Amino acid sequence: MDILGSAGTINVQGEQQQKLDVLANEVMKEAFCHTGRVSLMASEEEEDPIPADAAAGKYVVLFDPLDGSSNIDVNVSIGTIFSIHRRVSGDGCGNLVDCLQRGREQVAAGYVIYGSSTVMVYSAGNGVHCFTLDPVIGEFRLINHDVATPRTGKYYSINESNYTRWSAGYQKIVRCFKGVDGDGHGKNARYIGSLVADFHRNLLAGGIFMYPADTKSPNGKLRLLYEASPLAFVAEQAGGAASDGTTPILDIEPKKLHQRTPLVIGSRDDVAFVERTLREVEAAG
Ligand code: AHG
Ligand code: MN
Ligand code: MN
Repeated sequence: MDILGSAGTINVQGEQQQKLDVLANEVMKEAFCHTGRVSLMASEEEEDPIPADAAAGKYVVLFDPLDGSSNIDVNVSIGTIFSIHRRVSGDGCGNLVDCLQRGREQVAAGYVIYGSSTVMVYSAGNGVHCFTLDPVIGEFRLINHDVATPRTGKYYSINESNYTRWSAGYQKIVRCFKGVDGDGHGKNARYIGSLVADFHRNLLAGGIFMYPADTKSPNGKLRLLYEASPLAFVAEQAGGAASDGTTPILDIEPKKLHQRTPLVIGSRDDVAFVERTLREVEAAG
């Protein structure tokens, strides 16, 4: 099957689409339509909301069909992220208003990682649960019930090649995590470049993932509604936290479907440290 490499097209984010991005998007749409419970969908790969099933659908689903596109062709873990909201509009299949809901309003959210095994993690607001795909029976088995993420993590995850583009606050935070500034409590670095995989490792082992705004991406790189928000829901449900540096991700009022946000997510004490340091550096001018 012809699934490797670039599709030769550009998506709404202005990014090169891989063939697998396009295929994953089609598979996700078909799967959600098949449930008969979804009225409207929104995808990273499509500019506008996608109508599904007006009659049956009580829910709206937003998704990143394939996260970690740069890792597709090199056999590194990639994933799928989804966010589920109750539909709030009345007519037809629904509209943009159904998609632009705060993360706090999600009824469920989660992700699937295609790694050394296929793992699905979700929360419906009552803890976080992990399942592994058993290829022999073709079913997901519950492997981790009610996941609790460590309060403080041992890892920090950030694309450090952006260092000179960050604010002084983020530069200081990373120096502290490296142990060359602050109280000398360094952390270990891990960065895969697939948000789901970086998030999942830190969820289980404890750690913090950051994708700040920088001079190249003034609003950050990651998308609020189908990357940051669903993972923030999972993080909070596991006892962790997620912030844009000042505001909890789940409290951000979305304005646009493909809105970007800075993201700081993971162990609760580490996220609090980042917010505190940003405030202090800002205040010191
Ligand atoms: P996507 O493949 O859905 O466009 O997302 C890619 C994202 C995310 O998975 C990852 O955390 C980040 O891009 C990596 O960006 P850099 O290559 O700039 O570090
Ligand atoms: Mn993504
Ligand atoms: Mn994607």
